[in-house]
Amino acid sequence: MSTQSGPILIRGGQLIDPASRIEAPRDILLRDGRVAAIEPPGKLNAQARKEAAEVVDATGLVVAPGLVDIHVHLREPGQGYKETIASGTAAAAAGGFTSVCAMPNTIPVNDSPETTRWMIAPERGAVVRVFPIAAATRGSMGEALTEYGALKAAGAVGVTDDGKPILGDAIMHQTLASAARNGLPVIQHAEDTRMTGGCSMNAGPTAFRLGLRGMTVEAESSLVERDIKLLGEIKDSRAHLHVAHLSTARALEAVKKARRNGLHVTCEVAPHHFTLTEEAVGDYNTHAKMNPPLRSQLDREAMIAGLLDGSVDAIATDHAPHAAHEKEQEFERAPNGITGLETALGLTLKLLHRQHGMTMSRVISLLSVQPAQVLSLKGRGTLAFGAFADVVLFDPREEWTFVARDSRSRSKNTPFDGWKFPGKIKMTISEGRIVYRG
Ligand code: DOR
Ligand code: ZN
Repeated sequence: MSTQSGPILIRGGQLIDPASRIEAPRDILLRDGRVAAIEPPGKLNAQARKEAAEVVDATGLVVAPGLVDIHVHLREPGQGYKETIASGTAAAAAGGFTSVCAMPNTIPVNDSPETTRWMIAPERGAVVRVFPIAAATRGSMGEALTEYGALKAAGAVGVTDDGKPILGDAIMHQTLASAARNGLPVIQHAEDTRMTGGCSMNAGPTAFRLGLRGMTVEAESSLVERDIKLLGEIKDSRAHLHVAHLSTARALEAVKKARRNGLHVTCEVAPHHFTLTEEAVGDYNTHAKMNPPLRSQLDREAMIAGLLDGSVDAIATDHAPHAAHEKEQEFERAPNGITGLETALGLTLKLLHRQHGMTMSRVISLLSVQPAQVLSLKGRGTLAFGAFADVVLFDPREEWTFVARDSRSRSKNTPFDGWKFPGKIKMTISEGRIVYRG
């Protein structure tokens, strides 16, 4: 990230900071990369105006903490043709995100302190803050643990073998125990791959119609249930299991039950899983192919219910860029994943706020302070005094159209090309620097 800029005064906006329980007109001063003052309208201006290098008129806009995405694939090192840390963080900024957690399924796999440090080095050209999530096992091969203490010291905020599950009982037990000792969450890609070999979408009527092998709900829920059982055996209060891209009603029930039993289990849901169903695969549309797959309407409704009732901890995109030539193949050969950074806020506002009545404050919370809490990202996801000056400004009423070819991401693999959304992003500020103007 580049050098510091001068103080910024944001005037006249509606501040929504769920962590501070503020939803009111406020002026806010950003200085030295931090939130320096928050005051009711007008109170700040005389003194702060003089020192402000830039005064932003936020009349009619929501001023919220910069969004936090705890599940993105930035593809560096190794696959810069899909995405780079520079292009992925530019897409993040355009989507209102100021913190992104980068998955380790790069080439090589991020299983070392060296790669972890490489990812956050200034030379990568990130425009928002990147938090690496390191591999839980060497090469994500599921056999030997990586060095959790050293990875954490290098900047890792969690461990996972995402893209694949940590499958064996013994290795998952070791992972949970070692991560707990080191104060790191274990992020599980919950897919029992012994049940999903050769499958390319959800098991259901669409797969049947298309003649494709389908992944069952049980392939997800049984691994979540297994992980919860193992977590219960760890006698360490710091043990924390986080279920990535949870997509089934059954797995959500397991998470809720575990929590009632006092276990530290959290989960995230991706916008595509509360927006689309398996029917979006249509006629072998590879832009509707991801893992976990789009599910049934029943599962989709369970994700919405879980987001509304608070049993889902965070919205995370699983931003998974792939090149056009890779997606333009037979459905079964095409890679899993869609981009998500630039459509997450729009989809959340459209589906959860507009269609299901979720309050604006809850929308912001699920996209900022709650994900920050899941991975203990201190000073992120809030605009409290002294927090990082990470801010997003958007017009909640202005409709806009997402055009994939204009995306900041190097890849355009999205099923949401041409979709209209409420909530036009006007500005994103990362640690006191303006990194996006809409
Ligand atoms: O859809 C997905 N894409 N799911 C994964 O688990 C991996 C990811 C990727 O890396 O492309
Ligand atoms: Zn995954």
